[in-house]
Amino acid sequence: MKLRSIEIALPDPAAAAAWMTGVWGLSPAELRGGGHYLRGTGSFPYLVAFEPSDEEFVRSTTFVCSDEELAAIKSRVTEKGWAARPVTSADPGEGHGILVELPEGTILRFLAGTSEVAPIEGFSKASKRVSPVKLTHVVFNAVDAELLGHAVEDVLDFRVSDRTKGMVFVRCNDSHHSTAFARAGFASLNHVAFEMDDLDAVMRGIGWMRDNGFAPAWGPGRHGPGDNVYAYYIAPFGPVIEYSTAVEKVPADYRTGEPDDWTWPENRIDQWGVSDKDFAGLRVAEERFRCRRDWEPAPL
Ligand SMILES: [Fe+2]
Repeated sequence: MKLRSIEIALPDPAAAAAWMTGVWGLSPAELRGGGHYLRGTGSFPYLVAFEPSDEEFVRSTTFVCSDEELAAIKSRVTEKGWAARPVTSADPGEGHGILVELPEGTILRFLAGTSEVAPIEGFSKASKRVSPVKLTHVVFNAVDAELLGHAVEDVLDFRVSDRTKGMVFVRCNDSHHSTAFARAGFASLNHVAFEMDDLDAVMRGIGWMRDNGFAPAWGPGRHGPGDNVYAYYIAPFGPVIEYSTAVEKVPADYRTGEPDDWTWPENRIDQWGVSDKDFAGLRVAEERFRCRRDWEPAPL
């Protein structure tokens, strides 16, 4: 099971796509059906889709999996009675699978039979810039993050890696987290994190963003759970996005940490302690994009 992409609807997809390619470092993959598909240097055909809509919302977050994994999820979703429907993807990479609405409305899509593309080699050399490779996690705000952690363990066969005062971190493979639920008191998209090649690529990304007039809303820093380096930004079209690298790989029997395992010294909220955090600005951005189900459930 791998996190692949996020599909976002918003009024000006062309402007969002132009910024994500011109500044953030993604590459145009395809224009299809009014949607702008953007890719990283890795082998996924796209990481972000921007689709035209009068209103802004998250249509889905997509995971790719095997036929066996899909069949198992289908049967548990049916048993649980969650809103879901079968889908055939019309996006690059195609594939077939299901759309699932979690409690509180987060919408995930699981696709099997998807295709990949050749990685982009030598991006930095050619462009003197850095590019994300792939998505590393998509985090959601939740009213009841505990409930969602248990729900995705039971129904999707994900595993909770760590619980902190603020988050429930969830993995779907050996990467410490591919998603997480923030104890926010409301349900929405918290942020989208992009995997960079290494620490140097994160720092070069921060430099390129600075050249373009953007300062991190939080970071650079190094998280506790997952041990990944981060720099968070508020994109001009709304959502919080992150350059990240090297999230910890964990074994299947990783001991799930509890909030008391993850406390910081006073005035610290990461391992390095070198950056401020724009709590107010991030909060506004984190409330902006909600998931929306614009489809009717159907038997799987
Ligand atoms: Fe993150």
